[in-house]
Amino acid sequence: MNLKQLAAEKAVEYVKDGMHVGLGTGSTAYWAILKIGERVREGLSIQAVATSKASEKLAKEQGIPLIPFDRIQGLDLTIDGADELDRGLHLIKGGGGALLREKIVAFHSKELIIIADESKLVDKLGTFPLPVELVPFAYEWTMASLERLGAKPMLRTDDESIYVTDNGNYIADCRFGEIDNPNELHQRLLHLPGVVDNGLFIGLATRAVIGHSDGSMSVVE
Ligand code: A5P
Repeated sequence: MNLKQLAAEKAVEYVKDGMHVGLGTGSTAYWAILKIGERVREGLSIQAVATSKASEKLAKEQGIPLIPFDRIQGLDLTIDGADELDRGLHLIKGGGGALLREKIVAFHSKELIIIADESKLVDKLGTFPLPVELVPFAYEWTMASLERLGAKPMLRTDDESIYVTDNGNYIADCRFGEIDNPNELHQRLLHLPGVVDNGLFIGLATRAVIGHSDGSMSVVE
């Protein structure tokens, strides 16, 4: 059984006619986009925005109507994956590199439903290295500031080259160890010049649908 698909298809039940919907990024959000596409072809009437070029392409292939940002004020619901989440719905996102767009879309969404298999649910965040998006200018110095904050940053690469986000930025994957206070770390990161954003999502998710290996699902709210 595909646990990501299970969680994704459950979350898509929350999508209703007339909604403005945010489409997440990654291998779990992929299943949600496929299911939304199926429902659109069966007559569901929604308009969507995508959180990455990859999800936009998939949505178009699926026939999901996309709406420009200047035509709407915000979204009713966004469905997205996560790299880690705790029971307080604090998240680490950005394993797929789309954290900045995902955070902007989540911030403007009344509801953010996270979909994940059970491996993503943790007692404390921090096993998954925290993605931090950096502007390319003087990124070596920004990486040094991250080290002074206690991280072990690794510049993300793509084959032999530096990985570049959809926004033209770099990503440092940062090992901080267990994150005791995600909110404090989030604030400290945002104050570093050169840091565009980071993969901590605090106070944004309203619900998580988790797929379990015994075929059951649980909801964290
Ligand atoms: C994309 O940048 C990420 O935030 C993804 O949502 C996250 O990495 C989860 O991806 P998977 O569903 O592929 O594990």
